[in-house]
Amino acid sequence: MMNETGQGSQTTRPHTDREADLLRVIRCRVSCRAYKTDPVPEAHLRQMLEALRLAPSACNQQPWRLAVVRHPEVRRQLVEEGFLPGLKMAWALQAPVHVVIGMQTSFLTHKLATSVSGVDYPWVDIGIAGEHLVLTAAELGLGTCWIGWIKPRVVARLVGWPRSIQPVVVITVGYSSHPEKAILPAKRRKELEEVVKWVD
Ligand SMILES: Cc1cc2nc3c(=O)[nH]c(=O)nc-3n(C[C@H](O)[C@H](O)[C@H](O)COP(=O)(O)O)c2cc1C
Repeated sequence: MMNETGQGSQTTRPHTDREADLLRVIRCRVSCRAYKTDPVPEAHLRQMLEALRLAPSACNQQPWRLAVVRHPEVRRQLVEEGFLPGLKMAWALQAPVHVVIGMQTSFLTHKLATSVSGVDYPWVDIGIAGEHLVLTAAELGLGTCWIGWIKPRVVARLVGWPRSIQPVVVITVGYSSHPEKAILPAKRRKELEEVVKWVD
């Protein structure tokens, strides 16, 4: 999908190859819960952030805000104070980068459009943007895990965000210490017949 300069490769490859590449990355991505402590090259992080930046969003409001946390002490505090209890997530301490995705509220999509349609657009936008980042990481050979079991107010304090930015998820990033798990894993997923209704 991306060449070495981070540019899309649409001009250099036929459409069918690109499609196969994307599906391969999607199939191979798994939640990574065991990391090497090796640092993530900044160029890789920037490529992931660029993929996130290009995500579509309702009314092009781009409600996402990012905190890229590499500071070891802040990462420790995120895991020990910013995560909710009940799920064992000490493994996140090993991940050398925590990307916090927050939502910047806006009148247009949070209040106006949502009050008409009932669809909470910014949450959709955050999901799309986060997965852009995650799939780009997978293509770069990096492991990630979405963590939604967080205390938003504590996380906001730890990364120094104002009240107008609400933390939604933390995504851990790093090199997997079990990379073999990412080779075509058997995904526990509902069959298409369970989730798709064809309306012809
Ligand atoms: C919005 C969201 C929140 C999640 N929160 C957590 C979490 O708090 N802790 C965790 O270990 N995994 C979390 N996950 C990972 C899911 O458990 C995982 O994606 C799912 O079980 C499918 O497995 P796979 O990602 O390996 O395909 C979350 C995933 C998403 C998309």
